[in-house]
Amino acid sequence: MIYSKIIGTGSYLPDKVLTNFDLEKIVDTSDEWIVSRSGIRERHIAAEGQMTSDLALQASLKAIEAAGIVANDIDLIIVATTSPDKIFPSTACLLQDKLGITSGGAAFDLQAVCGGFVYAINSADLYIRAGQARTVLVVGAEVMSRMLDWTDRATCVLFGDGAGAVIMQASDAPGVLAAKLHSDGRHHALLRADGNICNGEVQGDPFIKMEGQAVFKFAVTALSRVVDEVMLEANMKSADIDWLVPHQANIRIIEATAKKLGLSMDNVVVTLSHHGNTSSASIPLALDVAVREGRIKVGQNLLLEAIGGGFTWGAVLLRW
Ligand code: UT7
Repeated sequence: MIYSKIIGTGSYLPDKVLTNFDLEKIVDTSDEWIVSRSGIRERHIAAEGQMTSDLALQASLKAIEAAGIVANDIDLIIVATTSPDKIFPSTACLLQDKLGITSGGAAFDLQAVCGGFVYAINSADLYIRAGQARTVLVVGAEVMSRMLDWTDRATCVLFGDGAGAVIMQASDAPGVLAAKLHSDGRHHALLRADGNICNGEVQGDPFIKMEGQAVFKFAVTALSRVVDEVMLEANMKSADIDWLVPHQANIRIIEATAKKLGLSMDNVVVTLSHHGNTSSASIPLALDVAVREGRIKVGQNLLLEAIGGGFTWGAVLLRW
Protein backbone atom coordinates (compact mmCIF):
# COMPACT_ATOMS: atom_id res chain seq x y z
CA MET A 1 0.00 0.00 0.00
CA ILE A 2 1.37 3.45 -0.93
CA TYR A 3 0.88 6.33 1.48
CA SER A 4 1.97 9.95 1.23
CA LYS A 5 4.03 11.44 4.02
CA ILE A 6 5.33 14.93 4.79
CA ILE A 7 9.13 14.66 4.96
CA GLY A 8 10.10 18.33 5.25
CA THR A 9 8.59 21.75 5.99
CA GLY A 10 9.63 25.35 5.40
CA SER A 11 8.18 28.82 5.70
CA TYR A 12 8.93 32.42 4.97
CA LEU A 13 7.62 35.75 6.24
CA PRO A 14 8.51 39.11 4.65
CA ASP A 15 10.69 41.40 6.81
CA LYS A 16 8.21 44.25 7.23
CA VAL A 17 5.99 43.90 10.31
CA LEU A 18 2.80 45.95 10.60
CA THR A 19 1.48 46.08 14.17
CA ASN A 20 -2.01 46.91 15.37
CA PHE A 21 -0.55 50.19 16.68
CA ASP A 22 0.66 51.00 13.16
CA LEU A 23 -2.88 50.32 11.91
CA GLU A 24 -4.34 52.72 14.49
CA LYS A 25 -2.62 55.46 12.48
CA ILE A 26 -4.18 54.32 9.18
CA VAL A 27 -7.82 53.49 10.03
CA ASP A 28 -10.28 54.06 12.89
CA THR A 29 -9.36 50.99 14.92
CA SER A 30 -7.54 49.99 18.10
CA ASP A 31 -5.14 47.31 19.23
CA GLU A 32 -7.73 46.38 21.89
CA TRP A 33 -10.49 45.82 19.28
CA ILE A 34 -8.30 43.78 16.93
CA VAL A 35 -6.85 41.57 19.69
CA SER A 36 -10.17 40.95 21.44
CA ARG A 37 -12.16 40.25 18.22
CA SER A 38 -9.54 38.32 16.26
CA GLY A 39 -6.44 37.52 18.35
CA ILE A 40 -4.15 39.27 15.84
CA ARG A 41 -1.37 41.58 17.10
CA GLU A 42 0.82 41.98 14.01
CA ARG A 43 1.25 40.74 10.46
CA HIS A 44 4.03 40.70 7.84
CA ILE A 45 3.76 42.71 4.63
CA ALA A 46 5.60 41.94 1.39
CA ALA A 47 8.02 44.55 0.06
CA GLU A 48 7.20 46.41 -3.13
CA GLY A 49 7.89 44.09 -6.04
CA GLN A 50 8.09 40.99 -3.81
CA MET A 51 5.71 38.52 -5.41
CA THR A 52 3.89 35.41 -4.19
CA SER A 53 6.38 33.20 -6.08
CA ASP A 54 9.28 34.95 -4.26
CA LEU A 55 7.75 34.10 -0.88
CA ALA A 56 6.99 30.59 -2.12
CA LEU A 57 10.60 30.15 -3.27
CA GLN A 58 12.07 30.93 0.17
CA ALA A 59 9.64 28.58 1.93
CA SER A 60 10.25 25.84 -0.66
CA LEU A 61 14.05 26.04 -0.38
CA LYS A 62 13.76 25.47 3.38
CA ALA A 63 11.34 22.54 2.91
CA ILE A 64 13.64 20.98 0.29
CA GLU A 65 16.61 21.28 2.65
CA ALA A 66 14.63 19.84 5.58
CA ALA A 67 13.49 16.91 3.42
CA GLY A 68 17.04 16.16 2.31
CA ILE A 69 16.14 16.11 -1.39
CA VAL A 70 17.20 18.19 -4.38
CA ALA A 71 14.76 20.34 -6.33
CA ASN A 72 14.92 18.12 -9.41
CA ASP A 73 13.52 15.22 -7.33
CA ILE A 74 10.20 17.08 -7.29
CA ASP A 75 7.81 15.70 -9.91
CA LEU A 76 4.75 17.79 -9.00
CA ILE A 77 4.32 21.32 -7.60
CA ILE A 78 0.97 22.47 -6.27
CA VAL A 79 0.74 26.10 -5.17
CA ALA A 80 -2.38 27.03 -3.25
CA THR A 81 -2.83 30.76 -3.70
CA THR A 82 -5.49 33.36 -4.19
CA SER A 83 -2.96 36.12 -4.91
CA PRO A 84 -0.97 34.75 -7.88
CA ASP A 85 1.87 36.76 -9.45
CA LYS A 86 0.02 36.97 -12.77
CA ILE A 87 -3.21 35.88 -14.43
CA PHE A 88 -0.99 33.30 -16.13
CA PRO A 89 1.34 31.43 -16.21
CA SER A 90 0.65 29.85 -12.84
CA THR A 91 2.66 30.78 -9.76
CA ALA A 92 3.58 27.07 -9.61
CA CYS A 93 5.30 27.30 -13.04
CA LEU A 94 7.09 30.51 -12.01
CA LEU A 95 8.21 28.75 -8.82
CA GLN A 96 9.37 25.72 -10.82
CA ASP A 97 11.60 28.04 -12.85
CA LYS A 98 12.94 29.88 -9.78
CA LEU A 99 13.81 26.50 -8.22
CA GLY A 100 15.73 25.56 -11.37
CA ILE A 101 13.65 22.42 -11.92
CA THR A 102 14.25 21.02 -15.39
CA SER A 103 13.11 17.44 -14.83
CA GLY A 104 9.78 18.04 -16.55
CA GLY A 105 7.39 17.34 -13.68
CA ALA A 106 3.93 18.90 -13.49
CA ALA A 107 3.02 22.19 -11.80
CA PHE A 108 -0.28 23.94 -11.21
CA ASP A 109 -2.02 26.46 -8.94
CA LEU A 110 -4.98 25.58 -6.81
CA GLN A 111 -7.51 28.28 -5.95
CA ALA A 112 -9.62 27.56 -2.87
CA VAL A 113 -8.77 30.77 -0.98
CA CYS A 114 -8.15 30.09 2.74
CA GLY A 115 -9.19 26.46 2.22
CA GLY A 116 -6.42 26.06 -0.38
CA PHE A 117 -3.80 24.24 1.65
CA VAL A 118 -6.06 21.38 2.81
CA TYR A 119 -7.31 21.07 -0.78
CA ALA A 120 -3.68 20.95 -1.99
CA ILE A 121 -2.57 18.33 0.57
CA ASN A 122 -5.54 16.19 -0.45
CA SER A 123 -4.61 16.54 -4.14
CA ALA A 124 -0.95 15.68 -3.53
CA ASP A 125 -1.98 12.64 -1.49
CA LEU A 126 -4.21 11.40 -4.31
CA TYR A 127 -1.48 11.91 -6.96
CA ILE A 128 1.01 10.00 -4.82
CA ARG A 129 -1.34 7.16 -3.91
CA ALA A 130 -2.36 6.80 -7.57
CA GLY A 131 1.32 6.40 -8.45
CA GLN A 132 1.29 9.49 -10.68
CA ALA A 133 3.79 11.44 -8.57
CA ARG A 134 6.42 10.43 -6.04
CA THR A 135 7.77 13.67 -4.57
CA VAL A 136 5.40 16.63 -4.38
CA LEU A 137 6.08 20.22 -3.30
CA VAL A 138 2.91 21.63 -1.76
CA VAL A 139 2.94 25.37 -1.08
CA GLY A 140 0.52 27.86 0.41
CA ALA A 141 1.68 31.38 -0.50
CA GLU A 142 -0.06 34.72 -0.41
CA VAL A 143 0.47 38.44 -0.78
CA MET A 144 -2.94 39.33 0.63
CA SER A 145 -1.85 42.91 1.44
CA ARG A 146 -2.21 43.92 -2.24
CA MET A 147 -5.88 42.88 -2.22
CA LEU A 148 -6.75 44.99 0.82
CA ASP A 149 -8.67 48.24 0.84
CA TRP A 150 -6.61 50.13 3.44
CA THR A 151 -9.65 52.34 4.21
CA ASP A 152 -11.85 49.34 5.14
CA ARG A 153 -11.15 48.62 8.82
CA ALA A 154 -13.36 45.51 8.71
CA THR A 155 -10.83 43.70 6.49
CA CYS A 156 -7.46 45.49 6.36
CA VAL A 157 -6.63 44.65 9.98
CA LEU A 158 -7.06 40.91 9.47
CA PHE A 159 -4.76 39.73 6.70
CA GLY A 160 -1.00 39.28 6.25
CA ASP A 161 1.54 37.94 3.76
CA GLY A 162 3.65 34.79 3.94
CA ALA A 163 4.35 31.33 2.59
CA GLY A 164 4.65 27.80 3.88
CA ALA A 165 5.76 24.68 2.04
CA VAL A 166 5.91 20.94 2.60
CA ILE A 167 7.52 18.10 0.68
CA MET A 168 5.26 15.05 0.45
CA GLN A 169 6.68 11.75 -0.67
CA ALA A 170 5.47 8.21 -1.32
CA SER A 171 5.97 6.04 1.75
CA ASP A 172 5.24 2.52 3.04
CA ALA A 173 4.29 4.00 6.42
CA PRO A 174 1.01 5.86 6.95
CA GLY A 175 1.12 9.67 6.47
CA VAL A 176 -2.15 11.18 5.30
CA LEU A 177 -4.83 9.06 7.00
CA ALA A 178 -8.02 10.75 5.80
CA ALA A 179 -9.23 13.92 4.13
CA LYS A 180 -12.65 15.50 3.65
CA LEU A 181 -13.34 18.53 1.46
CA HIS A 182 -16.50 20.58 0.92
CA SER A 183 -17.65 23.69 -0.87
CA ASP A 184 -20.92 25.59 -1.06
CA GLY A 185 -20.97 28.22 -3.80
CA ARG A 186 -24.27 29.65 -2.59
CA HIS A 187 -22.22 31.66 -0.07
CA HIS A 188 -19.85 33.17 -2.64
CA ALA A 189 -20.91 36.76 -1.86
CA LEU A 190 -20.01 36.60 1.85
CA LEU A 191 -16.24 36.66 1.24
CA ARG A 192 -15.01 37.84 -2.13
CA ALA A 193 -12.76 40.00 -4.30
CA ASP A 194 -14.87 40.86 -7.33
CA GLY A 195 -12.39 42.35 -9.79
CA ASN A 196 -11.58 40.85 -13.16
CA ILE A 197 -9.69 41.86 -16.26
CA CYS A 198 -11.66 42.76 -19.38
CA ASN A 199 -10.00 44.22 -22.50
CA GLY A 200 -6.95 45.19 -20.45
CA GLU A 201 -8.95 47.04 -17.77
CA VAL A 202 -9.63 45.96 -14.19
CA GLN A 203 -13.39 45.75 -13.87
CA GLY A 204 -15.25 45.66 -10.56
CA ASP A 205 -13.83 46.14 -7.08
CA PRO A 206 -10.64 44.07 -6.73
CA PHE A 207 -10.45 44.42 -2.93
CA ILE A 208 -11.49 41.83 -0.34
CA LYS A 209 -15.00 42.26 0.99
CA MET A 210 -16.28 40.19 3.90
CA GLU A 211 -19.48 39.80 5.89
CA GLY A 212 -17.42 38.96 8.98
CA GLN A 213 -20.17 37.80 11.34
CA ALA A 214 -21.85 35.56 8.75
CA VAL A 215 -18.49 33.99 7.85
CA PHE A 216 -17.73 33.51 11.53
CA LYS A 217 -21.00 31.70 12.25
CA PHE A 218 -20.71 29.44 9.21
CA ALA A 219 -17.05 28.68 10.00
CA VAL A 220 -17.67 27.48 13.55
CA THR A 221 -20.38 25.02 12.48
CA ALA A 222 -18.74 23.82 9.25
CA LEU A 223 -15.34 23.24 10.83
CA SER A 224 -16.66 21.27 13.76
CA ARG A 225 -18.70 19.08 11.35
CA VAL A 226 -15.81 18.42 8.98
CA VAL A 227 -13.36 17.49 11.74
CA ASP A 228 -15.93 14.99 13.01
CA GLU A 229 -16.30 13.59 9.49
CA VAL A 230 -12.57 13.15 8.94
CA MET A 231 -12.09 11.50 12.34
CA LEU A 232 -14.95 9.12 11.62
CA GLU A 233 -13.35 8.23 8.28
CA ALA A 234 -10.03 7.47 10.01
CA ASN A 235 -11.83 5.71 12.87
CA MET A 236 -10.26 8.06 15.41
CA LYS A 237 -11.46 9.89 18.50
CA SER A 238 -10.49 13.33 19.82
CA ALA A 239 -8.19 11.64 22.33
CA ASP A 240 -6.13 10.31 19.39
CA ILE A 241 -5.32 13.84 18.13
CA ASP A 242 -1.96 15.17 19.32
CA TRP A 243 -2.06 18.49 17.45
CA LEU A 244 -4.71 20.64 15.86
CA VAL A 245 -3.06 22.85 13.20
CA PRO A 246 -5.94 25.11 12.13
CA HIS A 247 -6.27 27.85 9.55
CA GLN A 248 -5.40 31.02 11.42
CA ALA A 249 -8.29 33.44 10.86
CA ASN A 250 -9.72 34.15 14.28
CA ILE A 251 -8.69 32.91 17.74
CA ARG A 252 -12.36 32.59 18.75
CA ILE A 253 -13.03 30.22 15.81
CA ILE A 254 -9.92 28.20 16.71
CA GLU A 255 -10.94 28.00 20.38
CA ALA A 256 -14.49 26.96 19.48
CA THR A 257 -13.19 24.15 17.23
CA ALA A 258 -10.77 22.94 19.92
CA LYS A 259 -13.51 23.06 22.55
CA LYS A 260 -15.94 21.03 20.43
CA LEU A 261 -13.13 18.49 19.96
CA GLY A 262 -12.44 18.45 23.70
CA LEU A 263 -8.82 19.45 22.95
CA SER A 264 -6.80 21.65 25.29
CA MET A 265 -5.39 24.80 23.68
CA ASP A 266 -1.97 23.34 24.65
CA ASN A 267 -2.52 20.93 21.75
CA VAL A 268 -3.34 23.66 19.23
CA VAL A 269 -0.70 25.41 17.12
CA VAL A 270 -1.52 29.13 17.13
CA THR A 271 0.57 31.61 15.13
CA LEU A 272 -2.26 34.03 14.39
CA SER A 273 -1.11 36.76 16.76
CA HIS A 274 2.16 37.26 14.81
CA HIS A 275 1.09 36.24 11.29
CA GLY A 276 -2.51 37.48 10.93
CA ASN A 277 -4.68 35.64 8.43
CA THR A 278 -2.34 34.58 5.61
CA SER A 279 -5.09 32.65 3.78
CA SER A 280 -3.73 29.45 2.18
CA ALA A 281 -0.30 30.02 3.77
CA SER A 282 -1.51 29.96 7.37
CA ILE A 283 -1.50 26.18 7.98
CA PRO A 284 1.93 25.41 6.46
CA LEU A 285 3.36 28.46 8.26
CA ALA A 286 1.99 27.23 11.60
CA LEU A 287 3.09 23.67 10.85
CA ASP A 288 6.66 24.74 10.11
CA VAL A 289 6.86 26.83 13.28
CA ALA A 290 5.70 23.88 15.41
CA VAL A 291 8.01 21.40 13.63
CA ARG A 292 11.08 23.62 13.97
CA GLU A 293 10.29 24.24 17.65
CA GLY A 294 10.34 20.45 18.11
CA ARG A 295 6.74 20.35 19.29
CA ILE A 296 5.57 17.86 16.64
CA LYS A 297 7.11 14.41 17.08
CA VAL A 298 7.32 11.31 14.90
CA GLY A 299 4.25 9.10 15.25
CA GLN A 300 1.92 11.90 16.42
CA ASN A 301 -1.47 12.52 14.80
CA LEU A 302 -2.17 15.96 13.33
CA LEU A 303 -5.53 17.43 12.37
CA LEU A 304 -5.48 20.28 9.83
CA GLU A 305 -8.64 22.27 9.07
CA ALA A 306 -9.54 25.39 7.11
CA ILE A 307 -12.40 27.39 5.65
CA GLY A 308 -12.33 30.16 3.07
CA GLY A 309 -14.16 32.11 0.40
CA GLY A 310 -16.44 30.12 -1.82
CA PHE A 311 -17.13 28.76 0.75
CA THR A 312 -14.54 26.02 0.60
CA TRP A 313 -13.61 24.04 3.67
CA GLY A 314 -12.02 20.79 4.68
CA ALA A 315 -9.93 18.79 7.10
CA VAL A 316 -6.96 16.43 6.79
CA LEU A 317 -5.75 13.91 9.37
CA LEU A 318 -2.17 12.80 9.12
CA ARG A 319 0.47 10.88 11.02
CA TRP A 320 3.84 12.57 11.45
O1 UT7 B 1 -10.03 33.23 6.42
C1 UT7 B 1 -11.30 33.05 5.87
C2 UT7 B 1 -12.33 32.94 6.90
N1 UT7 B 1 -12.50 34.21 7.56
C3 UT7 B 1 -12.91 34.21 8.81
O2 UT7 B 1 -13.04 33.17 9.40
C4 UT7 B 1 -13.25 35.53 9.45
C5 UT7 B 1 -14.53 35.37 10.24
N2 UT7 B 1 -14.99 36.57 10.92
C6 UT7 B 1 -14.30 37.16 11.94
O3 UT7 B 1 -13.19 36.77 12.25
C7 UT7 B 1 -14.98 38.25 12.71
O4 UT7 B 1 -16.31 38.36 12.28
C8 UT7 B 1 -14.28 39.64 12.58
C9 UT7 B 1 -12.97 39.64 13.35
C10 UT7 B 1 -14.03 39.95 11.13
C11 UT7 B 1 -15.15 40.74 13.17
O5 UT7 B 1 -15.49 40.45 14.51
P1 UT7 B 1 -17.03 40.59 15.00
O6 UT7 B 1 -17.03 40.31 16.44
O7 UT7 B 1 -17.85 39.68 14.11
O8 UT7 B 1 -17.33 42.11 14.74
P2 UT7 B 1 -18.45 42.78 13.81
O9 UT7 B 1 -18.11 42.60 12.39
O10 UT7 B 1 -19.79 42.32 14.28
O11 UT7 B 1 -18.28 44.30 14.18
C12 UT7 B 1 -18.57 44.78 15.50
C13 UT7 B 1 -18.35 46.27 15.53
C14 UT7 B 1 -19.06 47.03 14.41
O12 UT7 B 1 -19.49 48.26 14.94
P3 UT7 B 1 -21.03 48.45 15.39
O13 UT7 B 1 -21.85 48.22 14.15
O14 UT7 B 1 -21.28 47.42 16.45
O15 UT7 B 1 -21.07 49.86 15.88
C15 UT7 B 1 -17.98 47.31 13.39
O16 UT7 B 1 -18.21 48.45 12.64
O17 UT7 B 1 -16.96 46.56 15.35
C16 UT7 B 1 -16.78 47.50 14.29
N3 UT7 B 1 -15.51 47.22 13.64
C17 UT7 B 1 -14.34 47.70 14.08
N4 UT7 B 1 -14.04 48.50 15.12
C18 UT7 B 1 -12.74 48.78 15.31
C19 UT7 B 1 -15.28 46.47 12.53
N5 UT7 B 1 -13.97 46.43 12.25
C20 UT7 B 1 -13.36 47.19 13.19
C21 UT7 B 1 -12.03 47.54 13.44
N6 UT7 B 1 -11.76 48.32 14.51
N7 UT7 B 1 -11.01 47.09 12.69
